[in-house]
Amino acid sequence: MPAISFQHVVKTYGAVKALDDVSFNIEQGEFFGLLGPNGAGKTTLISILAGLARASGGTVRVLGHDVVTDYAQARRSLGIVPQELVFDPFFTVREALRIQGGYFGVRTDARANDAWIDELLANLGLADKADANMRQLSGGMKRRVLVAQALVHRPPVIVLDEPTAGVDVELRQTLWQFIARLNREGHTVLLTTHYLEEAEALCGRIAMLKQGRVVALDRTSALLAGTASTMLRFKMDAALPSQLAAQSRVTGRIVQITAHDAHEVETILGVLRNAGCQPEDLEIGRADLEDVFLEIMNGPPRAMHAMGVAA
Ligand SMILES: Nc1ncnc2c1ncn2[C@@H]1O[C@H](COP(=O)(O)OP(=O)(O)OP(=O)(O)O)[C@@H](O)[C@H]1O
Ligand SMILES: [Mg+2]
Repeated sequence: MPAISFQHVVKTYGAVKALDDVSFNIEQGEFFGLLGPNGAGKTTLISILAGLARASGGTVRVLGHDVVTDYAQARRSLGIVPQELVFDPFFTVREALRIQGGYFGVRTDARANDAWIDELLANLGLADKADANMRQLSGGMKRRVLVAQALVHRPPVIVLDEPTAGVDVELRQTLWQFIARLNREGHTVLLTTHYLEEAEALCGRIAMLKQGRVVALDRTSALLAGTASTMLRFKMDAALPSQLAAQSRVTGRIVQITAHDAHEVETILGVLRNAGCQPEDLEIGRADLEDVFLEIMNGPPRAMHAMGVAA
């Protein structure tokens, strides 16, 4: 039985098709990445999974439980860290976690869950904030509390919608260590993030959404292997010759150009030389997930049968 099953999921908002026939399964124990640009439909898919929005068509199951007809069981199986910061300003951090546990039937009176709550607080760097009011916390700390709230009932399936947005470097590392540990212990993880190096490091498989459709789905290693494999990176003050524009990404002074092989690297360097460009700090390395992502999002549609998507 899959941990999460999306079958022909459609969601329309008026004329907008936020999800357009999305079908894939996430197996138990996977660390799965859901990537896509702003507005691709990631949060919409997670909202339907969480029962916060109703699909216009299709079915979604969590460990076999339909999210509509078997809502309570499906919801209890999930721990969801929402993208938007929502919190009740009147409670302390510990109270908020106890109450959240109570929603899912974890006994609060006997404080039976307190050892786990303490472990969550320690692992998320919140131990000294346990008695602080939610409204006294910084944005990044509120996000940590949302993560703790999602985990308080020890859900088998953990869903994180951009959990590291606005979170500092140190917590990102501790958060990922903690989530990776839970994944090793058997929890299934579904992650959306715009930090593609996080997805590359953590996710065994990745689906990419574009305008509500799955445009790529494969093992992370296969996605990385199946693209332009070489990347030139350098700094330059002058404008890039126009014939290189299509395969380049320019961020300020930093230029990155994809190449498929050594011959293409020579050709690119030749074009730069002939245009009188002077690249500084030139590096030639392997393409990363960000390069793959941009190639898929900007490129023509790929044949889905080659990507392991079940019909
Ligand atoms: N409640 C709503 N009413 C109308 N349109 C909506 C609503 N929620 C989402 N949409 C639209 O659905 C599409 C998908 O939005 P969604 O929030 O799922 O994107 P996303 O992939 O999570 O993007 P981001 O990376 O910015 O979080 C967008 O076009 C958005 O405008
Ligand atoms: Mg979103």
